[in-house]
Amino acid sequence: MTSQLFSPYKLGGLELQNRIVIAPMCQYSAEDGKATDWHTIHLGHLALSGAALLFIEATAVSPEGRISPLDLGLWSDETEEALGKVLAAVRKYSDMPIGIQLAHAGRKASVHVPWNGGGQAGLDQGGWQTLAPSALAFGNHPRAPLALDAAEIAKLCEDFAESAKRAVRLGLDAIELHAAHGYLLHQFLSPLSNKREDQYGGSLENRMRLPLEIFDAVRAVVPAGIPVGFRVSGSDWAEGGWDLDQTIAFAKELKTREACFIHVSGGGLSPDQKVPLGPNYQVPFARAVKQATGLPTIAVGLITEADQAEAIIGTGDADLVALARGMLYDPRWPWHAAAQLGASVKAPNQYLRSQPRQHSKLFA
Ligand SMILES: Cc1cc2nc3c(=O)[nH]c(=O)nc-3n(C[C@H](O)[C@H](O)[C@H](O)COP(=O)(O)O)c2cc1C
Repeated sequence: MTSQLFSPYKLGGLELQNRIVIAPMCQYSAEDGKATDWHTIHLGHLALSGAALLFIEATAVSPEGRISPLDLGLWSDETEEALGKVLAAVRKYSDMPIGIQLAHAGRKASVHVPWNGGGQAGLDQGGWQTLAPSALAFGNHPRAPLALDAAEIAKLCEDFAESAKRAVRLGLDAIELHAAHGYLLHQFLSPLSNKREDQYGGSLENRMRLPLEIFDAVRAVVPAGIPVGFRVSGSDWAEGGWDLDQTIAFAKELKTREACFIHVSGGGLSPDQKVPLGPNYQVPFARAVKQATGLPTIAVGLITEADQAEAIIGTGDADLVALARGMLYDPRWPWHAAAQLGASVKAPNQYLRSQPRQHSKLFA
């Protein structure tokens, strides 16, 4: 039987060899926003994994949009040049399409890296004043964000568009706008974090306005062949918050604007969230969004087994599956999945001799 997981797919103008996406993963290893040798190692090894598409981590469109002082950025010639060097090295040995997630952390910015506790960084500890739709602190952060004014909101659209132009110049193959996990664009969408009384707050239409304006600003500067889409949280999993119905309404708006994909994750906005963790826990969101809109949909969240991923694609719950932790744990996950499902992957010439005898057709 032919594997659906290893069947090709066209995402906008981008040809994908199979349905496996490597989800964006913050590395907290940049210097003043500039990519380092760590990124060459990290992206380099993932680009040999046989996946169809590799997303670069949440990449800040401005210095104050970083989650931590060590986040990757794409807001200046220096940050563009540093990422360009990494990509040149990776591309020398892999033709895997590479996308980038463009992001602004809003009120969740200015925190210590996770391995140093992840709490809010003080202004005397390399931290900075954060910005958000409303002056509401996240969780126990002692310093509240400032509410963005009209000029700052207009600048956000410009910042996303400028970073997108840089991504295009770098030859990146796809752009994902980050509106999930409680970061700035999600903060605008959710009624729990957005208490504005102007045209960017209140009704669902108003809360969706800024993410949609940013989509339009980015789409306008990105050539038609390069897919632009969104990552969203399907739910805040918190009383009175963003939910699946609103996600579907947002996806419908994206569909009319010809967004190329929606990547459906969950949570991250409220410390009171109750996440029903388990295998496939976010797949029902992807299924519902896909059914309601027909938008190319990426499912993510505790997808760890080949059969599991095969079933998600085979049943049509989603068009693509994304893996994060599973790819760090087993960076050859797609090879092993292909072996199990009787499919094949692309492997670098240098590794061809590793093909196990019982999987003699593994390497295409
Ligand atoms: C180390 C690490 C870094 C992450 N960084 C990002 C990120 O930059 N952007 C994002 O949208 N999600 C990020 N996530 C979330 C993952 O992309 C993914 O949605 C989540 O881990 C669930 O998928 P999984 O069960 O396959 O790990 C990160 C997750 C991990 C483990």
